[in-house]
Amino acid sequence: MQRNIILIGFMGTGKSTIGRNLSRALGYPLIDTDQMIVDQKGCSIPEIFEREGEDAFRDLESGLLKSLHKHTGYIIATGGGIVGRPENCQLLQRLGYVIWLTAKPEEIYERTSRNTSRPLLNCEDPQGTITKLMSERDPLYQSAAHLGIETDTLSFDEVTAGIIESARYFFCSESP
Ligand code: S3P
Repeated sequence: MQRNIILIGFMGTGKSTIGRNLSRALGYPLIDTDQMIVDQKGCSIPEIFEREGEDAFRDLESGLLKSLHKHTGYIIATGGGIVGRPENCQLLQRLGYVIWLTAKPEEIYERTSRNTSRPLLNCEDPQGTITKLMSERDPLYQSAAHLGIETDTLSFDEVTAGIIESARYFFCSESP
């Protein structure tokens, strides 16, 4: 297993922000898979979904994850749907310590309703969509992750500190 810290979880659970905090605190470079796809394509995620469809986005996401197999010493923040493809879940586990960030559906709705950058939630019933997608994805996140952290009542700093402590312990107990 590589010594990366990988953040997975639903939209709005703070993966990118906490990824940036971890990167700063540990001096590990940050890879944000959404941002890398945007940079690679030169357009936004809603534009990719609109022009090429969700499957094309998922292909880019899986291809990018595969290309990271030799990376070590990184913080990797992923898009919320990355667990949808079973091969991605195996790749995530091989990359390092996988943290699942969670939040209640009401909290997710509150956090995500402020912007329109998430095409799956730009729909008539975002709350219903959140509930449905979460119930489909939660078992996938759970089986891909080494640790789950509830973010509802914690600050980003508290979550960051908790991840750093647990990662130290995790990587120490992994060493021969
Ligand atoms: C998605 C989550 C988004 C982004 C895309 C699809 C999803 O990332 O990858 O809009 O399917 O949950 P965030 O989880 O960073 O919002």
